[in-house]
Amino acid sequence: MAFLSIISLVLAAVAAGEPLLGKRQALNQSIPATTTLNGSATINPTAFAMPFVLNVEDMWDLLIGPVSSASITTTVSATPVPSSSLIPPPPLYYSPFPTGQQYPMESKNESWSFPKDFWWGVAGAAFQIEGAVKAEGRGPSVWDALGRVTGFESNNYTADITNNNYYMYKQDIARIAALSVKAYSFSISWSRIMPFGSGPVNEEAIAHYNDVINTCLEYGVIPMATLYHWDTPLAIQDTYGGWLSENIVNDFVEYARVAFGRFGDRVQYWFTVNEPIVFCDQYPLPAQYFKNFTIPYQHQPYYCGQNVLLAHSQAYGLGKQMMPNSTISYKNNGGYKVPLTNSTADAQAVQRAWDFNEGWFSDPIFLTGDYNDNVKTYVSTFLRPFTTAEKQTILGSADIYAHDAYTAQFYFAPDAGIEACLADTTNPLYPACANTSYTYSAADGNWLIGAAADPLAPWLHKATDWLPAFLHYLADTWAGDKPLAVTEFGFAEPFEADKTLLPDILFDPVRSSYFHDYMRAMLVAMSEGVNIAGCLAWSFYDNFEWASGFSVRFGMQYVNFTEDTLPRYYKASFFEYKSAFDIYQEK
Ligand SMILES: *[C@@H]1O[C@H](CO)[C@@H](O)[C@H](O)[C@H]1NC(C)=O
Ligand SMILES: *[C@@H]1O[C@H](CO)[C@@H](O)[C@H](O)[C@H]1NC(C)=O
Ligand SMILES: *[C@@H]1O[C@H](CO)[C@@H](O)[C@H](O)[C@H]1NC(C)=O
Ligand SMILES: *[C@@H]1O[C@H](CO)[C@@H](O)[C@H](O)[C@H]1NC(C)=O
Ligand SMILES: *[C@@H]1O[C@H](CO)[C@@H](O)[C@H](O)[C@H]1NC(C)=O
Ligand SMILES: *[C@@H]1O[C@H](CO)[C@@H](O)[C@H](O)[C@H]1NC(C)=O
Ligand SMILES: *[C@@H]1O[C@H](CO)[C@@H](O)[C@H](O)[C@H]1NC(C)=O
Ligand SMILES: *[C@@H]1O[C@H](CO)[C@@H](O)[C@H](O)[C@H]1NC(C)=O
Ligand SMILES: *[C@@H]1O[C@H](CO)[C@@H](O)[C@H](O)[C@H]1NC(C)=O
Repeated sequence: MAFLSIISLVLAAVAAGEPLLGKRQALNQSIPATTTLNGSATINPTAFAMPFVLNVEDMWDLLIGPVSSASITTTVSATPVPSSSLIPPPPLYYSPFPTGQQYPMESKNESWSFPKDFWWGVAGAAFQIEGAVKAEGRGPSVWDALGRVTGFESNNYTADITNNNYYMYKQDIARIAALSVKAYSFSISWSRIMPFGSGPVNEEAIAHYNDVINTCLEYGVIPMATLYHWDTPLAIQDTYGGWLSENIVNDFVEYARVAFGRFGDRVQYWFTVNEPIVFCDQYPLPAQYFKNFTIPYQHQPYYCGQNVLLAHSQAYGLGKQMMPNSTISYKNNGGYKVPLTNSTADAQAVQRAWDFNEGWFSDPIFLTGDYNDNVKTYVSTFLRPFTTAEKQTILGSADIYAHDAYTAQFYFAPDAGIEACLADTTNPLYPACANTSYTYSAADGNWLIGAAADPLAPWLHKATDWLPAFLHYLADTWAGDKPLAVTEFGFAEPFEADKTLLPDILFDPVRSSYFHDYMRAMLVAMSEGVNIAGCLAWSFYDNFEWASGFSVRFGMQYVNFTEDTLPRYYKASFFEYKSAFDIYQEK
């Protein structure tokens, strides 16, 4: 009786998202390292006087509630891809004459080539594709919970099933290999490997990812693994606030140790965290659903960022020690930043935007071991400084400059001016104090910077003309003598989710033209000397697009989510992407 009421006290607090000061210790100790995943625990003698066990099933029942299962719940073998599926579409018409800035001719340009070892591939992320959320011992992540916050998720979608990749990965990898794709970048679900985020390791998850990796190798596809693509284990979010707490540093490094140790004999390419600018800027998570009341709202992104820098750099150091032949980085993101006008203020706004976005992480990792002056001026009022040893660990903790480089946008000074913004913490643009727009200035006619993607991806425009300048900027500013890699790029065909006819869906002209022009813009930059090791298109099929669920589509394959078997079909854009390598990659 007594221990049952302690369990309900702790779990009620966790479920309500209340701060767990004082209660944190209880939940932690309720999961002694000796707990087994089937719930029959060996009680940790140093834990509670009245010990109890929180097992994975309890977490699901008490923190998440019922989840849906797919109709397919065992691993499916690959069936050969029919040759009828491999016929490319008729080509889109491309202008045969140069129409503007760096606009390529359609005939093969003999000045361009991708080297033989250039890795071109496709990317996806565990939570967006796997489904099978409760299968084989996986613990819940923040995203399992967010999907159930009223009003957060478009159409109340969940990723309980999504692409059912957890059981259908063999077919998925076979379909990638059938188009000669060289690399497949996937993420590992932390809460599958460690259902509580720390502590016991789930051997069924290890076996699963072992088979994903081995299947890639059987098909001659290079596996690339990301440790963290936004799916923080719910247990560590609820106990200490996830990335808001320095506790996560050690937990992340221990998780990395398990992944490197178990998979590093076959996986050479590793990404620690995906797009910290995005997931840290989204702290606090919606309406402070997961709270840490002791950190003011506006400061939370920077606590997250600081803990990311510590966790990433320590994991990098460990990875290089365990796998000397590995290539390890983290994935940055952001569009090219173009000044709206030639004014000095807009030039300053552009610099501040780089500093508070890419530079927030890239300056410490690639340049100095510490924040740039603009970020430091702000964060030093509340964050502790890095120690000398931490700065040394952070500096140089990436082997390539990996950037998710989708688009470009204009930047300009706030209405009040930069100085007034900096003096006013209530300005909505504080502390970066850089405003942004997707349209040219009024003097230039207010045209969009490029064709808009789906309205549910309002940040994304086809701005491939700017890509050569963008890649030069990344190389010159941060990468130095390390190669660049474009680790995500892709396009959400406008209104694709509203289409009902299969042939209409498979013919995706804006996405196709995005990939066509993107690859040629990359070739321009490479012909001008920018060193690029590889690129990964997002995404190899339609999937669960976070808060937008299935309402917006980034796939180069269509997936019919209303059919039990979730059939996959290549879209025209996949052939367009592949054709750039058929034409330009050295054999
Ligand atoms: C959790 O418990 C373990 C074992 O008692 C202890 O070493 C660790 O410091 C605790 N962690 C937290 C976050 O309280
Ligand atoms: C639970 O797992 C442990 C360790 O794998 C095993 O020894 C034990 O027999 C299992 N218990 C049940 C009830 O399956
Ligand atoms: C061929 O590529 C070079 C180098 O990028 C470029 O300068 C030239 O304009 C291209 N030629 C055509 C016809 O597009
Ligand atoms: C989503 O769920 C909420 C709460 O159950 C309900 O009020 C709402 O109508 C649902 N929305 C849709 C689009 O189904
Ligand atoms: C909240 O964050 C503060 C500042 O990092 C930290 O001292 C405190 O322990 C955190 N609270 C919890 C419950 O993790
Ligand atoms: C890295 O090197 C180690 C030791 O030589 C080797 O066992 C391992 O297979 C290599 N890993 C990869 C991914 O090539
Ligand atoms: C910026 O200046 C350049 C030349 O210095 C000029 O060609 C261009 O039109 C100017 N752009 C704007 C938006 O004023
Ligand atoms: C940012 O720019 C938009 C569009 O020009 C403007 O309406 C808005 O007031 C600006 N925001 C600030 C805080 O200056
Ligand atoms: C998806 O599957 C459903 C159910 O079989 C079917 O009605 C629908 O036409 C399919 N959609 C497309 C685009 O093929």
